[in-house]
Amino acid sequence: MASIHYRSYAKINLYLDVLNQREDGYHNIETVFQTVSLHDDLVFTPHDEGIHLYCDNSDVPLDERNLIHRAARLLQEQTGCGAGVKVKIKKRIPVAAGLAGGSGNAAATLVALNKLWELGLSRAKLRALGLELGSDVPYCLVGGTVAATRRGEELFPLPKLMDTWFVLLHPPLAISTETIFTSPHLVRNDEAPYAGRTYAFGSAIRAIKNGYLAAGVFNRLESAAFALHPELAERKQQLIEAGCRAAAMSGSGPTLFGICESQERAETIAAQFTDIATSIVTPFDQSLVRLSDEAGTPSRHVP
Ligand code: C5P
Repeated sequence: MASIHYRSYAKINLYLDVLNQREDGYHNIETVFQTVSLHDDLVFTPHDEGIHLYCDNSDVPLDERNLIHRAARLLQEQTGCGAGVKVKIKKRIPVAAGLAGGSGNAAATLVALNKLWELGLSRAKLRALGLELGSDVPYCLVGGTVAATRRGEELFPLPKLMDTWFVLLHPPLAISTETIFTSPHLVRNDEAPYAGRTYAFGSAIRAIKNGYLAAGVFNRLESAAFALHPELAERKQQLIEAGCRAAAMSGSGPTLFGICESQERAETIAAQFTDIATSIVTPFDQSLVRLSDEAGTPSRHVP
């Protein structure tokens, strides 16, 4: 089989709350994920043996620390498949930034190698393997506007967002998710869920569904990340002062996003940030897009 080319898209968390810690050490969370139009490109080429990664960005590890490597290895272990692969990575999503760049790459790897190695694994099996690789991977197999509970793998699709642009700020930091979840500054929500969700989560979902996005935006992990890096709190405030309808950190940070109702407004606001990298992104409705060949001809709509 010839090479397979996938784009894997970044996500932000419009809403993220942390509930109790579970027996397996993870926390139950309540979140609303949103895929955005910032993506990496991955080209998978069959190879006799071994897992070989190539990347233009020297910050990206090319060994077992990379989730692409771990996803490929997990598939080999689970199926006994002895085939190899070369993966060329074009990295645009910042690393360890709260944008699920690594999780999206892992999701793309599961789907691409299931085809390339002709493994015939079901979507349910891929989701289960995804969860072994990371809490965000099951969502990254799907994408769009999605509410999620448990570790983030119980997914409830929501309607698409309308008339929304995001300004992303990219502080030059890498933050470990584990550090944030174990921080003494993280105060968990001890409200007991009723019918599967807390009152606060239900209200946020209603606000987001009804187009009152600003009323639904929240991230419980900010207190821990802002205690570690106080400049992140200032950046969030700057987004509000610059005219965003609402702003928050994504995931365990450090990426911050501000919400705007038009592209023009997003451009005006982003232009005010001259001392930090920014992106303007739009909501996107899937995490993975397969392109028709290695040359990168879209086989489906790509923004
Ligand atoms: O699943 P993932 O690899 O992204 O998680 C990284 C770390 O973040 C975990 O080892 C755990 O410490 C913390 N975490 C958590 N509860 C979650 C997700 C992550 O405690 N739902």
